[in-house]
Amino acid sequence: MDKFVIKGGRPLTGSIPASGSKNSALPALAAALLTAEPVILRRIPAVRDIRTMQRLLIDIGSTVEVTPDYVRLDTREITSPEAPYELVKTMRASSLVLGPLAARAGRARVSLPGGCAIGARPIDLHIAGLEALGARINQSHGYVEAEAPGGLRGARIHFDKITVTGTEDLMMAATLASGETVLENAAQEPEVKDLADLLTKMGAKIEGAGTSTIRIEGVKKLGGADHTIIGDRIEAGTFLVAGAITNGDLTVTDCPVEHLGALIVKLRQAGVEVTEDGSSLRVRVSGPVRSVDITTEEYPGFATDLQAQYMALMTQAEGIAIVTETIFENRFMHAQELARMGANIRLDGRRAIVAGPRELTGAGVIASDLRASASLVLAGLAAHGETVIDRVYHIDRGYERIEEKLARAGAEIERVD
Ligand code: UD1
Repeated sequence: MDKFVIKGGRPLTGSIPASGSKNSALPALAAALLTAEPVILRRIPAVRDIRTMQRLLIDIGSTVEVTPDYVRLDTREITSPEAPYELVKTMRASSLVLGPLAARAGRARVSLPGGCAIGARPIDLHIAGLEALGARINQSHGYVEAEAPGGLRGARIHFDKITVTGTEDLMMAATLASGETVLENAAQEPEVKDLADLLTKMGAKIEGAGTSTIRIEGVKKLGGADHTIIGDRIEAGTFLVAGAITNGDLTVTDCPVEHLGALIVKLRQAGVEVTEDGSSLRVRVSGPVRSVDITTEEYPGFATDLQAQYMALMTQAEGIAIVTETIFENRFMHAQELARMGANIRLDGRRAIVAGPRELTGAGVIASDLRASASLVLAGLAAHGETVIDRVYHIDRGYERIEEKLARAGAEIERVD
């Protein structure tokens, strides 16, 4: 298993490009199941979750051509409308094929995800939504089966809780349902909007994506499309924090600046200089960094996927920062590992109280999930001495060659077997 060895204490300088958004690319790949015509997707990041989704699509019947410039998907026929446990357990986003399969093939069999490192992650809202669209649902042997031999029909669906992939899954299903579907209390994440843009190119009729109410007028058939995925706001945000935590002067290029508002506000309040230049964001630290509280929220609030990285920064800030996690119930696994490196963090239910600044010292730490591992990399960059991060496959799920990108900006980081 690969590890990262980091020698900390070097300010990051220069520039790092952001990749295409993983969380936008995953539903876009699933959307290709909705049509028998080829779909070309550009700026698909080369990360492990994407390879997992491509493997799943091949199992289902797609031909997947991966080139350095684009991924081309061709699904003339759905040969096996199923997402097996082996894939769903490594990547919950596999459930994104449920809606497209039910809509196009009239049948889907998808493994139910179990618990995961950051808490329970049920897909009950995806299932209830499909039932509202007229699918017959049966759950047994750890699988959910949806059947709609006569096709889905439009409905009004109100989400009890805001769910990103749930909104995407049902938006895709509704594109081929008969009549109108209204999704209320829908997720407003930029990835939902990007998916709607792709579906619209494929011939779908969608209004309101990016707001809390999405209207979809079903069509009989969707066609091919050529679409470029948006930049990854979470990866870009991670690099911005990397620049700040190392007291560096770092520019992130090809950056989805407009999707990073909540992070930029907090960084500026903390005393980090953030400047915008077209699609680039530059962070610079010249004075002390101050503690600033955050509470994670659905978009446009502070992203839960940046909470762990921000917590690492707060270990270096002056004062006390309260980090409140409202989206997932158990997303503080990184706190104990940061504490092993010298951070002063007390957990109190959904709140983490971070007192800083504390000098971090290199240690052996274990990555527990994707974003927690990113926070350990950041802490390692700021720490004195050597940090060894085990189980970096978690980080490879969502970051494209992170060690190469960071090394280009002056970090001393190496992947070892
Ligand atoms: C997506 C992102 C993930 C991010 C998360 C929250 C992708 C591929 N992943 O995950 O990186 O951390 O949004 O911004 O886009 N819930 C239910 N029932 C459901 C679905 C969700 O109770 O049927 C709950 C979840 O347990 C969680 C909350 O709703 O507490 C939000 O989850 P959701 O938005 O669905 O997260 P994902 O779409 O899985």
